Amino acid sequence: MNPSEQPVLRLRGIRKEFPGVLALDGVDLDLHGGEVHVLLGENGAGKSTLMKTISGALRRDAGEVLLDGQPLEITSPRHAQALGIAIIYQELNLVPHLTAAENILLGREPAAAPGVIAQGRLMRTAQQLLDELGVAIDAGAVVGRLGVAQQQMVEVAKALSLDARVLIMDEPTSALTGQEIAELFATIRRLKSRGVAIVYISHRMDELFAIGDRVTVLRDGRHVGTRLISQTSMGELVRMMVGRELKEKFPKQPAAVGAEVLRVERLERKGVLHDISFSLRRGEVVGIAGLMGSGRTELARAIFGADPIDGGRVIVHGVERRIPTPRAAIDLGLGYLSEDRKSEGLILVQSVEENLCLPSVGRFSRWGLMQPRREAAATAQRIDELRIKTPHARQLVEFLSGGNQQKVVLGKWLTTEADILIFDEPTRGIDVGAKVEIYQLMNQLAARGAAILMISSELPEILGMSDRILVMQGGRIAGEFTAAEATQEKLLAAALGQN
Ligand SMILES: Nc1ncnc2c1ncn2[C@@H]1O[C@H](COP(=O)(O)OP(=O)(O)OP(=O)(O)O)[C@@H](O)[C@H]1O
Ligand SMILES: [Mg+2]
Repeated sequence: MNPSEQPVLRLRGIRKEFPGVLALDGVDLDLHGGEVHVLLGENGAGKSTLMKTISGALRRDAGEVLLDGQPLEITSPRHAQALGIAIIYQELNLVPHLTAAENILLGREPAAAPGVIAQGRLMRTAQQLLDELGVAIDAGAVVGRLGVAQQQMVEVAKALSLDARVLIMDEPTSALTGQEIAELFATIRRLKSRGVAIVYISHRMDELFAIGDRVTVLRDGRHVGTRLISQTSMGELVRMMVGRELKEKFPKQPAAVGAEVLRVERLERKGVLHDISFSLRRGEVVGIAGLMGSGRTELARAIFGADPIDGGRVIVHGVERRIPTPRAAIDLGLGYLSEDRKSEGLILVQSVEENLCLPSVGRFSRWGLMQPRREAAATAQRIDELRIKTPHARQLVEFLSGGNQQKVVLGKWLTTEADILIFDEPTRGIDVGAKVEIYQLMNQLAARGAAILMISSELPEILGMSDRILVMQGGRIAGEFTAAEATQEKLLAAALGQN
């Protein structure tokens, strides 16, 4: 990037207000061709909102947008596409019952004759884009049946197909792991060398240094500063983001370990889980590491009654149980924070309070009557503890920022009296400051006698917060480590099946 050259896209004084929230308060941003510009800020800082004002999804209240120095109005997503501005939204935006190919070229399908889609050409074009990304996804696969990571790669392919000049990626790697992230970064570098201006939003701090050229930090809807990545540090960026120093990244406090609450013996699910045995005791945080597709989420779902099992035993509080449904699991004191919050974790058209109190309705009702005051008190406590950014408890969850939606899902399980908690990627999409608060809440849960099974793709988090670590590979447990003996190298070797 040559800073003296004219920016491709220039934003000046962008302002956007929602009822009760000033989301953007006069934000400036310059994007140059051939740069990866990282946008950083806490959950609710205004990153997605700023990007939506240039993708045509939102109208700004004030400010100026200049493309190649010319002021212009971006009136719709279609208009933005025509101008060469493509966006991968934080919330996946795919049509679940269509194929990957149909999604990638939606609205731009090649025509065999007027009104007739050239199916063969559609498949070939889409397959080529997927192959270029280095992902093994069949263009003919129905998107709703793909995993979250694969759906995210379909989104990336869709953005690539637009041949954009400005490409915005709003947390593109939140569901990806190692190899997929590497493929995505390779793609980003290719686009960069073609002169595309890329906006990259992520809460994974290590990524910024791997892929970014410049970084702009937003806080509470304001522009705090822009730096060259080569001339800043993690410490400086965190200070700019959260406005204070973060003491400890992983504030683990080991709790007293008590009675066994869950034991799984020789669990089988055909083709998915093989011979899985482990136990979980009060006060323990057991981390589950493993690569994408190693069976971690499948294990969680099987224990929670979301998928049937073909063999083995599940023993809860010393009693063998059949858990045919999630309802049955909840009744036994299990809680599951799923990795796919949007389809499983949240009711978007309900309020923060309704979502937070959902799994604990039993607790707030007496003789079948709801107790609104107790609900309100528990809700207020969660909003405060997790620093959920919302104008009030009655706000609909769909209007919260992505990270704040995650906090609601997590808060939902903290409100229950469940004492066996399965957290699947609990801090995905959560900013650095809020992560620490979530770890502290996990400490509290463990201290009051809960047992936590924590699935995570972030090895530092697994190493920093677990008492014990199980590593899965190919649907089996490929290694077990105490916190003291585990290292990143050992976990990775086990995850790759190199024992
Ligand atoms: N449609 C909407 N209606 C009301 N408030 C909204 C709407 N969209 C965003 N907000 C609010 O605007 C603020 C900025 O949200 P935004 O989604 O831009 O945050 P973000 O920086 O992308 O956060 P995250 O890291 O959690 O994704 C938040 O307080 C959010 O609740
Ligand atoms: Mg966002």
